[in-house]
Amino acid sequence: MIFLLFGPPGSGKGTQSRMITNWLEIPSISTGDMLRAETEAGSELGQAAKSIMAGGGLVGDDLVNKMLAQRISRPDCQRGFLLDGYPRTVQQAEFLDQLLAERGLPKPVVLHLDVPVDALVGRMTSRRQCPACGRIYNLLHQPPKKPGVCDDDDAQLVTRKDDQEEVVKDRIRTYEKLTRPVLSHYQDRKYYQIRGDRSPAYIFEEITGVLEPLLAQNGCGRPKVKRAN
Ligand code: AP5
Repeated sequence: MIFLLFGPPGSGKGTQSRMITNWLEIPSISTGDMLRAETEAGSELGQAAKSIMAGGGLVGDDLVNKMLAQRISRPDCQRGFLLDGYPRTVQQAEFLDQLLAERGLPKPVVLHLDVPVDALVGRMTSRRQCPACGRIYNLLHQPPKKPGVCDDDDAQLVTRKDDQEEVVKDRIRTYEKLTRPVLSHYQDRKYYQIRGDRSPAYIFEEITGVLEPLLAQNGCGRPKVKRAN
């Protein structure tokens, strides 16, 4: 099965994606993470994306669509995958429909994390992330045990460059203008709205409650025991 995690910047997509894909043992594909890896590597794509991401805008549809199409061709996607932060424009949603149809893949199950805008800025400006394993922390709600250091591998936590308040506000504006309209594209599909203003563990419970019957219907067998971190 294919899952699509949708929601504004800071809604908890990365946090939930980690829990869902650990549970289902499928890859999580974050176009944001892929673009950050490209900018770190200084590739042509990374150079094109760098200033756009720093300004809170969206990288061009053609570049992102091509990158995504290549990624889902990899063997680890054969048992299904979860998309985090893609599609982000109506054009990307239409491209994805066509790509999945051409490859004989099922339509995605859409999980929409709905969080009030006024909660988002604080979440992002207090986010820290482990550069080694990708684990996401929050200085207010989910701090590491030892300040500044990842609980899992002792790496020094980092602040994302686009988590400065002014950029965060621009990212939210971009979401409202270009990404929220994508929701109407999916409303007549397997679409589930999840309230994202509760604890991550509670949200994960709700998501598993939505997904378990769908997994059973699709003959996906029983997923492994849930782990909420
Ligand atoms: P991307 O990396 O995808 O960022 P985003 O969508 O803006 O989302 P974030 O990663 O900021 O937040 P999240 O929803 O994952 O929340 P998280 O779990 O970290 O994209 C970055 C940029 O890349 C874009 O701006 C764009 O330029 C470009 N890009 C990416 N994809 C693209 C595409 N398809 N097309 C074009 N351009 C693209 O949580 C946030 C914080 O809140 C954390 O500190 C976390 O601990 C905390 N938190 C999580 N859940 C909860 C909760 N329930 N309660 C309280 N706190 C919580």
